[in-house]
Amino acid sequence: MKIGLVQFRPELFQVKENVERGINLMKNEDADLFIFPELAFTGYTFNTKSEVEWVAEDIKGYSIRTFMDFAVSKKNNIVFGFVEKDGDKYYNSSILIKDNGDYKIYRKTHLFYEEKLFFEKGNTGFWVEDVRGIKVGLAICFDWFFPESFRTLALKGAQVIAHSANLVMPYCQEANKIRSLENRVFIATSNRWGEEVNLLNTNTFTGMSQITNPKGEVIIRLPQKGDKVKVVEINPDEALNKNINKYNNIFEDRVKKFYI
Ligand code: ACM
Repeated sequence: MKIGLVQFRPELFQVKENVERGINLMKNEDADLFIFPELAFTGYTFNTKSEVEWVAEDIKGYSIRTFMDFAVSKKNNIVFGFVEKDGDKYYNSSILIKDNGDYKIYRKTHLFYEEKLFFEKGNTGFWVEDVRGIKVGLAICFDWFFPESFRTLALKGAQVIAHSANLVMPYCQEANKIRSLENRVFIATSNRWGEEVNLLNTNTFTGMSQITNPKGEVIIRLPQKGDKVKVVEINPDEALNKNINKYNNIFEDRVKKFYI
């Protein structure tokens, strides 16, 4: 499977321009699955609920329609984060758009900091979906901090976790080596980079998008700064083997009666 790992810095609220830049990054690359960051085309630093409402979209929204057209015409699968509107509720969501136009949405389970002021807690739970015969699961940024997120996806059969992020703390890139190792899965973290200012609020994102493999190795890490797309070929079958040695299997050896 060829993963197109996309590192990106949108301009706050400039959805159309950001979508155009996102499409341009993909259009000369050949990947089975492109993965973009969290809230990829809206920006992240919201000060008010009305800003969130302004850029929110449902399945008929501009960025989803545009990426859906691209996915179907170029035969690509694409994951990206967006502000989802469902009635009068707003979610920090990520969508998997498949090359036949099917789609599935994941709503962020673990909201970070002031996201709690603007978004509902995700209610989709973690799921996995078949992409070209490979089981792919989605997670969003701060979900990484809760080992249960990636463990649940792995137990559900995920071989590849598409982790769209707007990371602001410095730990995730190192931590995800262990998350990959302990679950024997690939984790592709597509992160944002650079600074975003909205009045008195500033966020600085850490870049260094990466893919870790079931051995806990970083197989690609992008620089701290810069819009980049890097296509990396992985062997997802490696994530099917949950044995560490002939006596230990990470799932069969779980002792659930001692866990809460
Ligand atoms: C984060 O969850 N965007 C830090």
